[in-house]
Amino acid sequence: MADIKNKRHSEWSSRFAFILAATGSAVGLGNIWKFPYITGENGGGAFVIVYLLCVVVIGIPIMMAETMIGRRGRQNPVNAMKTLAQEAGADSRWRYLGWLGVAAGVIILSYYSVIAGWAMAYVLKSISGTFIDGSAQQIGGFFDAFVKDSGAQVFWHTSFMVITMLVVVRGVREGLEKAVRFLMPSLFILLILLVGYAMNTDAYDQGLSFMFDPDFSKITGSSILTAMGHAFFTLSLGMGAIMVYGSYLPKDVSISQTAFMVAGADTLVALLAGIAIFPLVFANGLEPSTGPGLIFQTLPIAFGQMTGGVIFGTLFFVLLFFAALSSSISLIEPAVAWMVENKGYSRVKTCVFLGAGVWFLGLGTVFSFNEWADFTFLGKNIFECLDFLTANIMLPAGGLLIAVFSGWVMTRTQSRDELQLNNKGLYYCWFILVRYVSPAAVFLVFIHVLGIL
Ligand code: PHE
Repeated sequence: MADIKNKRHSEWSSRFAFILAATGSAVGLGNIWKFPYITGENGGGAFVIVYLLCVVVIGIPIMMAETMIGRRGRQNPVNAMKTLAQEAGADSRWRYLGWLGVAAGVIILSYYSVIAGWAMAYVLKSISGTFIDGSAQQIGGFFDAFVKDSGAQVFWHTSFMVITMLVVVRGVREGLEKAVRFLMPSLFILLILLVGYAMNTDAYDQGLSFMFDPDFSKITGSSILTAMGHAFFTLSLGMGAIMVYGSYLPKDVSISQTAFMVAGADTLVALLAGIAIFPLVFANGLEPSTGPGLIFQTLPIAFGQMTGGVIFGTLFFVLLFFAALSSSISLIEPAVAWMVENKGYSRVKTCVFLGAGVWFLGLGTVFSFNEWADFTFLGKNIFECLDFLTANIMLPAGGLLIAVFSGWVMTRTQSRDELQLNNKGLYYCWFILVRYVSPAAVFLVFIHVLGIL
């Protein structure tokens, strides 16, 4: 996205450009790194079903709502909320919802950058042939040693932050948009290749049944919260990223169609990642519940064994890095847009300031894997606390309020005019979902986890 201030009323070059940018934001570490490991930690099949349900019932309607608010507001989330609230004759304090999103984006990026740094480091490991013929133990050992090396962690985290801010400073239209056009399909093809590899392992059926045979006895309140939180995280919802992107959407583009396409592509990538990874987990006698290191401990085994593995492995981590980059830009864009538009800072100054802040915050995550590993709060280390706070609390809370805003505060004339759903039934379906179903679902999960229900 180019300089927001100068191109306040600019638009995506086409519907396709928006779909690409939104898919670039949605598809990221959440799909390939986080989805498999939280599925592993939460027992598999039943968790996947709850997650899919959340995507359809809560995610898609809220994605439409966010895009709609963005397009109608045509500014950063804080201002968009304020303008639309005024237009509807409601309290302008709705702008604080924009704030919540800005804060969530900053916190998420702080740990997102550390993990993206892992992907960068793994490009080098892969290209130098580290994984060739590596056993599961060796590859697990590499990973453990790597995360314990705090110097290396700081280096990669710093590198990723610098690259992210450089892209954000220059605007993503020219560079990243073009790159994503080519990289997204490549990532997809590579995932299919990995699925093909997984199909040839003895444990393919076992991997599939872990992912798709539901055992609801494994579902707890907290796993429902995690599944719901992940639906928000993976679709980039609840914090204004899609809202900012929506603010550049031309008026004649169908919001519902684009939301379905983005959510569909995102879900497909996550499922493919799971199908590629779980057979490898079982074929190598590993545990599905090993946590954030899961893909780094499993996929390199496959790369180490397959012909051309050095090339495919390197390519895979390069693509993972780009997928992370196109998401990290959207994590920081609401904060950048707000500082540029409302505080009048230059884009460069804003990026230096925000980049340094996020980098500093990220050190907490870096050290939670080594020096400060024993420092916990309610049994969670710093990384786990930040992840829980953002993905499981801030994003769903933001999403809940966005749903309430579009279902209760905005007038039906406003939303109908903006969504332009010609089919009346479809409009009412969306309306009932954002007015009643999504807020109630998020609220119920929250109070259930608090132990009130
Ligand atoms: N959706 C991104 C992912 O799955 C993460 C993200 C969350 C990006 C929230 C923007 C906003 O990796």
